[in-house]
Amino acid sequence: MALLKLEEVTKRFGGLVAVNAVSLEIDAGEFVGIVGPNGSGKTTLFNVISGVFFPEEGRVFFEDKDVTRLPPFKRAPLGIGRTFQIPRPFASASVRENVAVGAMFGVLGPEVNVNESLKIADQIIERVGLQEHRDKQAGTLTPVEKKLMEIARALAMKPKLLLMDEAMAGMHPSDIDGMVAFIKNLARDEGIAVVAMVEHIMRAVVGMAEKVIVLDQGSKIVDAPTKQALEDPKVIEVYLGHPPEE
Ligand SMILES: Nc1ncnc2c1ncn2[C@@H]1O[C@H](COP(=O)(O)OP(=O)(O)O)[C@@H](O)[C@H]1O
Ligand SMILES: [Mg+2]
Repeated sequence: MALLKLEEVTKRFGGLVAVNAVSLEIDAGEFVGIVGPNGSGKTTLFNVISGVFFPEEGRVFFEDKDVTRLPPFKRAPLGIGRTFQIPRPFASASVRENVAVGAMFGVLGPEVNVNESLKIADQIIERVGLQEHRDKQAGTLTPVEKKLMEIARALAMKPKLLLMDEAMAGMHPSDIDGMVAFIKNLARDEGIAVVAMVEHIMRAVVGMAEKVIVLDQGSKIVDAPTKQALEDPKVIEVYLGHPPEE
């Protein structure tokens, strides 16, 4: 049984087909990179998986349960966690409180009280290396620290599937390497599947992903083990605008 399964999912905005009949499967604990040029439908696909948008066609299954029409607040407790491309912290709340919110809306949701959610937040803040900033207002963090907080907030949901939308964009390469290693370890320890989306073929995806899915104008054009995907002429064409020389 796949952890996540999409069957022929289509999402339109008026006449624009943002996601076009996309089918895919993600297994438990798997690392998958979703790659595609700007506007290729990556964020929209995320939104369909997390429940921000409902598709016009197709179905979304999580652990064999049809979640196509469930709103995000009902998917998060099932184990679908995400970061946002544009971090949206509660600026005047502390880092600790922001991360604790993740715990309260996630898998543990109804079981955790405020103190317990703060305790979970503290553990995760330490794991992402933000402990020095724990009591600062989130609004005072640097962009990279905000990204880390956003990842911490998603991890506090204790997801089975972690969707990372450009979570590492703009980070320094050495920070990315640290983050990739951290997420890999954590995901392995906790059995979390990670789907990371990036605008460009980045070292982060190459370093992390077992499988790469490539979108182009809303359609899935490649779904293959990382090495094979990156050598695929269709991928090279999408990025360079022409097929590789023979
Ligand atoms: N809320 C929206 N309303 C209308 N069009 C949208 C909306 N979100 C995305 N789009 C359009 O859908 C297409 C895919 O966008 P998006 O999913 O953001 O791509 P990516 O994340 O790969 O850059 C783009 O043409 C974009 O302009
Ligand atoms: Mg995007």
